[in-house]
Amino acid sequence: MAFDPKNMIFRHLGPTGLKVSVFSLGGWLTYGGTQKGSIVKECMQAAWENGVNFFDTAEVYANGQSEIEMGNALKELGWPRDEYVLSTKVFFGTGRKEPNTRGLSRKHIVEGLKSSLERLQTPYVDIVFAHRFDYATPMKEIVEGFTQVIRDLNLAYYWGTSEWSAQQITEATLIAERYNLIAPVAEQPQYNALHRERFEVEYAPLFKELSYGTTIWSPLASGLLTGKYNDGIPEDSRFAAHQGWFGDTIKELKTPEGQAKLDKIRKLTKVAERLGGSVAQLALAWCAANPNVSTVILGATKVAQIHDNCKALQLVEKLTPDVMNEIEEIMQNKPKGPPTWGRER
Ligand SMILES: NC(=O)c1ccc[n+]([C@@H]2O[C@H](COP(=O)([O-])OP(=O)(O)OC[C@H]3O[C@@H](n4cnc5c(N)ncnc54)[C@H](OP(=O)(O)O)[C@@H]3O)[C@@H](O)[C@H]2O)c1
Repeated sequence: MAFDPKNMIFRHLGPTGLKVSVFSLGGWLTYGGTQKGSIVKECMQAAWENGVNFFDTAEVYANGQSEIEMGNALKELGWPRDEYVLSTKVFFGTGRKEPNTRGLSRKHIVEGLKSSLERLQTPYVDIVFAHRFDYATPMKEIVEGFTQVIRDLNLAYYWGTSEWSAQQITEATLIAERYNLIAPVAEQPQYNALHRERFEVEYAPLFKELSYGTTIWSPLASGLLTGKYNDGIPEDSRFAAHQGWFGDTIKELKTPEGQAKLDKIRKLTKVAERLGGSVAQLALAWCAANPNVSTVILGATKVAQIHDNCKALQLVEKLTPDVMNEIEEIMQNKPKGPPTWGRER
């Protein structure tokens, strides 16, 4: 089916000329994990029908199965390659334990990405992310590795970082400038109404000085911000399916701090209903309303979740300064920046 952007908003990915839909779709825990076969294709199709042009995966997701499932779906869907943007991430490997099958050595950047591309059945991705920082590899080698896959091997057009510190991103950028290498263009950080500090404070200089892009993850805090966990853990839910991974979160929900979070979500639900949407849509629109967010990566186990979540687009323009203040009043978690001593511009 030809791509129809509908009412989707498109943003440049940071300083690049590449345009990504403000809502995108990723495969963590879902595609190749709990969801296999036709449902993967159906979810990606639903996203496409809503104007989503950007899809994200990683070598580590379901130990490579996510790339296999999403690659199969892309092949069957047969969309023109120049109409969609695809990213993957290297660092964690695919569960193998050999010393060189993970990390950001030049060897693993090249070999890891080549293996990802084989699983995805594609000659290149648009963006390759360093899924974490590698403290054991010199920064110059990391930047050289990503430059090599882009400039020499044509395996990607851009590279980005994921959960790197602002200092590490700045250092990579300066090294790229100094040695005529390619600098990263976007970060993939966690960002949602419950998790704000790093994005809003630490990364602020990156947005200002580098126009650094962001492809943000867990915009619904793994589903918490849909209100589905307000009264316990539903059987057919992420927390139920991944109790080990989310053990601490599940425990926290029973504490006074956890209950306070759920209370905030109940209050947000009332705001959302007044605006004509759901609390999930409000939480997604809140992320998309931040101009430093290039794209909000959605996760979904069901087609209906994608259609529902993309309706958040209609709420973005309803987030007036008054509504944003009302949300701040409820959340009480606006991070404080460093003191400016009255010298802010
Ligand atoms: N770079 C990184 O380190 C990193 C880390 C994590 C994620 N990511 C990326 O970010 C993407 C999105 O993250 P995420 O999956 O954690 O996003 P999320 O939006 O916080 O959580 C998505 C999950 O919430 C539930 N959900 C979504 N919409 C719903 C709705 N309308 N009603 C009820 N439940 C709903 C679904 O799970 P259930 O139906 O199973 O409950 C869905 O799989 C990932 O796929 C991945 O591409 C990157």
